[in-house]
Amino acid sequence: MLAVESLTRTFGGVAAVSDVSFSVRKGHVHAVIGPNGAGKTTLFNLISGVYTPSAGTVKLDGEDIGGHAPDQLARKGMSRTFQNLQVCMNMTALENVMLGAHLRCRSGILGSLLGLTRRADAALREASMAAMDFVGVGAWRDAHATQLSFGVLKRLEIARALQAGPRLLLLDEPAAGLNDSETHEMTALIRRIAEDGVTVLLVEHDMKMVMSISDHIVVMDQGRKLAEGDAATVRKNPDVIAAYLGAEE
Ligand SMILES: Nc1ncnc2c1ncn2[C@@H]1O[C@H](COP(=O)(O)OP(=O)(O)OP(=O)(O)O)[C@@H](O)[C@H]1O
Ligand SMILES: [Mg+2]
Repeated sequence: MLAVESLTRTFGGVAAVSDVSFSVRKGHVHAVIGPNGAGKTTLFNLISGVYTPSAGTVKLDGEDIGGHAPDQLARKGMSRTFQNLQVCMNMTALENVMLGAHLRCRSGILGSLLGLTRRADAALREASMAAMDFVGVGAWRDAHATQLSFGVLKRLEIARALQAGPRLLLLDEPAAGLNDSETHEMTALIRRIAEDGVTVLLVEHDMKMVMSISDHIVVMDQGRKLAEGDAATVRKNPDVIAAYLGAEE
């Protein structure tokens, strides 16, 4: 579904992502792991159109999508969440989900930005409410974003990404900041998303989550791909243990 080929991005001469290649198979859960600063978020920003590559290509179902804007990519079936919450605090939970890939927090933006007819508005509202129910935050539909707990906001972000009905979902650290039981629920949610037919690519430091849900793992270190394979292969790789996992893993 997704083919990343020799992807490179430099910032002032420093390569945040350097010559990274891997592919994402339809229907699988893929993870990208590695130490802080390894280039995982930069990789996501390159795939999702936030940054343009310095070199290399990103192909979605064979089509080169390098340089496409995030809302264009959403229409092509790719959605993402962010490592740092991107919630509009001056809006309700439902309004945040309805925004989808249009992450601009001005009030009154929904109608003007999307140029909606009433019928399209109704369909968007319905898809957004269904996504909120799916991730388990339907009860907070009309709550103001400032009233929501961190755990609810994390799931709200996933609802916003799911609202457009993506085929490929990118999650940057879905468990960051969550306690054990919330992480457990998040793991179950990601499993349900995958079972629903959405291909998942996630970045995560919670190794219990990663090892339990990933079909395929790419390990990054200092901008480069260090290793890849299934959980069993990756966790016994001496380079991966030395750079990231540590001996106890
Ligand atoms: N916009 C930018 N300008 C300059 N340097 C950047 C920029 N974005 C990322 N970098 C650098 O690229 C490197 C990789 O950062 P990145 O955020 O991709 O790491 P990460 O693997 O996501 O780390 P973490 O696990 O801490 O989230 C870091 O050295 C970072 O400082
Ligand atoms: Mg990151």
